[in-house]
Amino acid sequence: MIEKGNLISEGKAKSLYETQNQNELLMVYRDDTSAFDGKKKEALKGKGEINNKFNAHIMNYLGANGIDTHYIKTVTDNESLVHKLDMLPVECVVRNIATGSLTSRLGIPEGTVLEKPLLEYCYKKDELNDPLISKEHIYSFGWASKKEIKIIDETTLRINDLLSGMFRGIGIKLVDFKIEYGKTWNKDSEESEIVLADEISPDTCRLWDVKTEKKLDKDRFRK
Ligand code: ADP
Ligand code: TMP
Ligand code: ASP
Repeated sequence: MIEKGNLISEGKAKSLYETQNQNELLMVYRDDTSAFDGKKKEALKGKGEINNKFNAHIMNYLGANGIDTHYIKTVTDNESLVHKLDMLPVECVVRNIATGSLTSRLGIPEGTVLEKPLLEYCYKKDELNDPLISKEHIYSFGWASKKEIKIIDETTLRINDLLSGMFRGIGIKLVDFKIEYGKTWNKDSEESEIVLADEISPDTCRLWDVKTEKKLDKDRFRK
């Protein structure tokens, strides 16, 4: 039985609660849906449950394929237990096909298939609209070390390969996605480990039907 303790954070779409285990958190997926860094908000009935189940499936799949994830288990329809991490203030975006801010920022034509996956980093700061940053910013401000970024890059590209294949198998193109990482939370240990955190769902990925290119993700809400 998982005890739901104090609320420790309420983000735009999920809430985190303490549990009886200080290294584990209860992640509650709410129906709240946000776009443009919180500028557009609405509650979509059942979205929390869908994202929780979608994410659990993906985290299990990645875990089974050797990726360290924070996911422990599903607790209720819209709640999962996760390892508590020290989150890096960096969002990692992978792009396979040009759309979204890549198109608006650099004028790359919508739908261009990229020769190889493009990795981008953003500083996680809603007030600044999560600005695009370089690895040098990450090192300068100590948001992650070179060693950690090497692990993150390799893991992120592996996740892209695994998920692109998984979605292709069901007739869906993985166009792009955003992931976040944290470090294992252990004040006493001198070694920390980089772990995939947060969520992978239609809120954080662009997914297009292979045949019709119909959008199957949060872009339907954004637009
Ligand atoms: P946001 O903070 O962008 O509004 P959410 O509403 O999805 O996003 O809130 C989830 C928050 O929990 C995010 O800030 C995310 O960085 C953080 N988080 C995700 N996984 C973990 C974890 N395992 N341990 C601690 N914090 C986490
Ligand atoms: P973008 O084209 O708007 O930069 O988005 C790239 C991908 O990252 C897309 O799949 C949506 C996802 N994303 C998030 O999940 N959260 C964010 O804050 C942003 C900016 C993008
Ligand atoms: N994830 C951000 C938000 O929740 C930005 C976006 O998805 O458009 O507002």
